[in-house]
Amino acid sequence: MPSSTGTPPPPGSPIAILSSGGDAPGMNAAIRAATAVIASAGYQPMGVRYGYRGLIAGDLVPLGPDQVATILREGGTMLGSARCQEFMTLEGRATARARLTAAGVRGLVVIGGNGSLAGAMALTDPAEAGPDFACAVMGVPASIDNDIGLTGMAIGVDTAMNTIVEACDKISDTASAHDRTFIVEVMGRACGYLAMTAAVAAGADAVLFREAEKTPDEVVASVVKTVMHARARAGRPKRVLVIKSEGTPISNDELKTRVDAELRARLGPDTPPVETRVTVLGHVVRGGRPSAFDRLLASRLANVAVRGLLAGHHREMAAWLLPGDLPPDVGVRSTDDPYCFLVGLDAVQRETARLLEGTSDLAVWRRTVFHDVEDILPY
Ligand code: F6P
Repeated sequence: MPSSTGTPPPPGSPIAILSSGGDAPGMNAAIRAATAVIASAGYQPMGVRYGYRGLIAGDLVPLGPDQVATILREGGTMLGSARCQEFMTLEGRATARARLTAAGVRGLVVIGGNGSLAGAMALTDPAEAGPDFACAVMGVPASIDNDIGLTGMAIGVDTAMNTIVEACDKISDTASAHDRTFIVEVMGRACGYLAMTAAVAAGADAVLFREAEKTPDEVVASVVKTVMHARARAGRPKRVLVIKSEGTPISNDELKTRVDAELRARLGPDTPPVETRVTVLGHVVRGGRPSAFDRLLASRLANVAVRGLLAGHHREMAAWLLPGDLPPDVGVRSTDDPYCFLVGLDAVQRETARLLEGTSDLAVWRRTVFHDVEDILPY
């Protein structure tokens, strides 16, 4: 079951907000909502700048309506973010705790992905922190990768998907004009969710992702098959759009070289030339103004996280799930929002590991859908 101190932070005490790891569009909306809920409940909102790195440095700033008034529609995070090696050490975490205690902070809202949520667990590990550390922690899932266990959606995924689709629509125009094949690589780390959903929404001809468990030879063969299928179409365009998740086990250079060579051999010299182009969308996918959905999701999750924390919940994450999606004994439905749940961070970590190794129910379901969609895409 999720942890609960049962002891709400003392009225009026500082409650800090921190964003960490890869930024995600909508983090600002979460910071804004958290600030508003903390302040309206009579507590002091504080911001930690630059994630756990700033926490170790004691870089805390007061937050209030003036600081967050205009951030809702901005991408990135107004608090700054960082990936912090020092926080991985016992000494780094001890310094972070000392900073929180010195500032009188009695609650911390961590907005971020898997690494950030694992950091929240380590920070408040009773065996490491000892009985005198009196700061509760709550997580808010934010990562464009959608690879966090026990939440159907993380903040930033929807905006990233829209950014990919917009880019692919543009690429499709030029690809169609030249009858070219484009391989578009998108972020997502080890998770193919972004690639798959964007491929459906962009009308791609093929999608490549780690979870398909294809060898490099099989990946090459599937792209070649897709191009041959397009070439066999009676009319135009014969463009081919392939979305490749960054976790696919073949480099872009190798894929392009091998696909072109195979197609030249198969098509012979009398057909129009095979022209494959590669576009890596990279960090473009992580930027931009958050979509309306991400603004709303971020606001709702932050609201639930803060209200839960102020009610005495601890070492949990606000999650976006359908009631039937919540495994028994890992969480409770929020009393503040019918679509949100409070789930234990330890269960989130376990479920994330199973998701990434492909053994969780969601992973199995996603893999099945991915396979089905893969067969349909070229049509
Ligand atoms: O986890 C978010 C993410 O954008 C991944 O999709 C990507 O692999 C990684 O972060 C990139 O990290 P960095 O910004 O540190 O290069």
